[in-house]
Amino acid sequence: MLPLASIVLAAGKGTRMKSGLIKVLHPIAGPPMIAWPVAAAREAGSDPIVLVIGHQATAVQAVFRGAADIRSAMQEEQLGTGHAVACALDTLAGFSGTVLILCGDTPLLRSETLKNMLTYHRDNGAAITVLTALMDDPLGYGRVVRDGSGQVAAIVEHKDATQEEREIREINSGIYCMDSGFLFANIKEISNDNAQGEYYLTDLLAIAVRKGLTCLALPTADADEIMGVNDRVQLAEAARILRSRINREHMLNGVTLIDPDQTYIDHGVTIGADTTIHPGCRIGCGSIIGSGCEIEAAVSISDCRIGDDCHIKASSVLESSELGEDVSVGPMAHLRPGTVLGNKVKIGNFVETKKIVMGEGSKASHLTYLGDADIGRDVNIGCGTITCNYDGVNKHRTVIGDEVFIGSDVQLVAPVTVGRNSLVAAGTTVTIDVPPDSLALSRVPQVNKEGWRLKKKS
Ligand code: UD1
Ligand code: CA
Repeated sequence: MLPLASIVLAAGKGTRMKSGLIKVLHPIAGPPMIAWPVAAAREAGSDPIVLVIGHQATAVQAVFRGAADIRSAMQEEQLGTGHAVACALDTLAGFSGTVLILCGDTPLLRSETLKNMLTYHRDNGAAITVLTALMDDPLGYGRVVRDGSGQVAAIVEHKDATQEEREIREINSGIYCMDSGFLFANIKEISNDNAQGEYYLTDLLAIAVRKGLTCLALPTADADEIMGVNDRVQLAEAARILRSRINREHMLNGVTLIDPDQTYIDHGVTIGADTTIHPGCRIGCGSIIGSGCEIEAAVSISDCRIGDDCHIKASSVLESSELGEDVSVGPMAHLRPGTVLGNKVKIGNFVETKKIVMGEGSKASHLTYLGDADIGRDVNIGCGTITCNYDGVNKHRTVIGDEVFIGSDVQLVAPVTVGRNSLVAAGTTVTIDVPPDSLALSRVPQVNKEGWRLKKKS
């Protein structure tokens, strides 16, 4: 493969987001915005990728911690896109090949588009190639000025453009391929003599033209791809487009989405064929869902592994949990982190679980809290059961053996063990271990005072 390096500009704050968080760290369909152009650069074959960072630099670096192909360069003061690229060049010292330059705020860019651009750039032996688009409303973008023969002459920023230049609909996407030799030799020639007093990277085009080098502009077929996110309206618009791409892929893989416009699946989710997802569901990054599952409306799933043929009923919330096959959850159940459910487990409405393991065929069908518990197979947990796992200082575990039957309204005061095949009677507060095959009963005997109401009234 021909040597390719990328520079991703991400030092700006993103003032128009009106946020405490810098623009490129706003999540979009899962990952932070900047992860998208970085992934596109990587898929196009780039190594290394240099991030130009400034505002909240440590937080940006943290996104890519451990990635061997990512380097970063500081731009202390944001003096313009030309200055930003200049800041990255020390990090690329000794590199010879093609340099791809991208912005951190273009999450819709596809690697195929970058690959096409690279081929066009290399096949024509260009010094610089810019990706452009035709826009009905080019307001704010740099305009691509072409000469009488249609060759690129320069890019003029909106603020510097004449009335005539502002009529031009071909705009600069801010995405470029450059020959490294040309870039290193000419970056210092950029001046800040313009309306914004900034060093414009775009000046490199006019410089190349002046030196008689090949300078190309390649219009993209899909103007959406180069959309830059500047404010939260554009953030929502870009997220909508990304989600529709993600949803389309799942549908082509055999997943039924009842209403794709109202299904929120993050990047990096795996879903098996013949699974049906109803409207209003949110499925977070990294989740794996098996085939033949039914996920009813308004379910939220994050970081879960769900086996085949599971049924997740409406309005349930599942976080960092693992489900076997043929498991039924909800409606309105809450599986909190560390929940591990075996095959054929049933968790019913208004049940909350946390850090529990539940064996095959066990059931907690109604109104229950199970936290810090090891529950065997074929256990029945009655309505209103509570594991009292917290003594105000420490958390303790409850252990329930196979085939145990826990009646309704039972409190299990942990640490406590109920041996296999025992029965805990309704209303019992279990404070001492129950041996196997036993009955545990801790009810206050009932007293009936006959005629008591009549006496009270008289
Ligand atoms: C830039 C282009 C414009 C193009 C548009 C496409 C220039 C001079 N203009 O304008 O022709 O149509 O992108 O979206 O290049 N950045 C830094 N350091 C800086 C300045 C910017 O890292 O000193 C980063 C920003 O964080 C951002 C990117 O570069 O990710 C683009 O900067 P921005 O200020 O948004 O440029 P535009 O005015 O949109
Ligand atoms: Ca921009």
